[in-house]
Amino acid sequence: MNDALEPLLGVLVVIQILEYTFTISEDEVDTLEEKLLLFETVKFCFVRVDRKVFLKLYLSGGEEPPDFLGSRLVEVKSLKPGDWLEKAEEFQQPFELVDGVIVDPTDSIKERDGIVLKISPGLAFGTGRHVTTKMAARLLCRVIEPGMHVLDLGCGTGILAILAARLGAGRVVAVDNDPLAVQKALEEVEKNRVDVNVILSDAFDKVEGIYDVIVSNMYAEILLEIVEEAKNFLYNGGYLILSGILKEKFPAIVNVAQAYDYELIENLGDGEWCAMLLKSV
Ligand SMILES: C[S@@+](CC[C@H](N)C(=O)[O-])C[C@H]1O[C@@H](n2cnc3c(N)ncnc32)[C@H](O)[C@@H]1O
Repeated sequence: MNDALEPLLGVLVVIQILEYTFTISEDEVDTLEEKLLLFETVKFCFVRVDRKVFLKLYLSGGEEPPDFLGSRLVEVKSLKPGDWLEKAEEFQQPFELVDGVIVDPTDSIKERDGIVLKISPGLAFGTGRHVTTKMAARLLCRVIEPGMHVLDLGCGTGILAILAARLGAGRVVAVDNDPLAVQKALEEVEKNRVDVNVILSDAFDKVEGIYDVIVSNMYAEILLEIVEEAKNFLYNGGYLILSGILKEKFPAIVNVAQAYDYELIENLGDGEWCAMLLKSV
């Protein structure tokens, strides 16, 4: 084990992990999975017993289950912290976000060749481990040129905005509608010593200016609206990067994009998720 991690893991040992069990129906499994995957740090699984379906959610003491699970809670159990040591250690290890870009959660490695982003896990989505973030990052690396203006819509920890700044973007704005995400993004921006303007905004509500690149890793329903509104915030020939799209929602987004005069330049897929690079023409 890396010596620098030991004190951190010492703290994690005393964190209490609670297992919440909810009773749900088989019909809800896909929708709930889609919603819970957006909470990147929440661990969950579905268990089937005698034709009944249960959702098990693992949270640390102090965290609350999401509101949309309503009042279907049937049990809360405390787990032994030791069971989580292995997972905790894994989450502290540096990893490659895309070629030439490393994410270092504990700020323990020195920057040599390539870019090192210091992003630590917290309450906001965007550690960089989720494939939707990785695909968005890959498309960002493909289009960003020095000096470009970049907007990260739904920034979470700010990881994509920070990457854009490190790739040489001239003006970077990161927005989220969750005050906790905005606070986390501000901390990460400071830690990474980049110039990113982080604002609390529901989608484009508080956004000003025109951009060369807009990147948004959210979910299909909101991305469909963003495709239309992004036209007002993109230079002609600007790029729109969309991620967080479940494969079955891909055709609907491509149709809307074509209706609003975007050209599909590239699409990426990984498991059930896909991402696309559109050009405003
Ligand atoms: C899947 S996370 C993406 C985080 C990060 N950009 C990444 O790629 O890892 C989506 C983020 O969008 C934010 N979000 C959801 N709806 C939003 C809205 N209407 N306006 C702004 N942000 C929104 C959520 O709070 C969340 O932080």
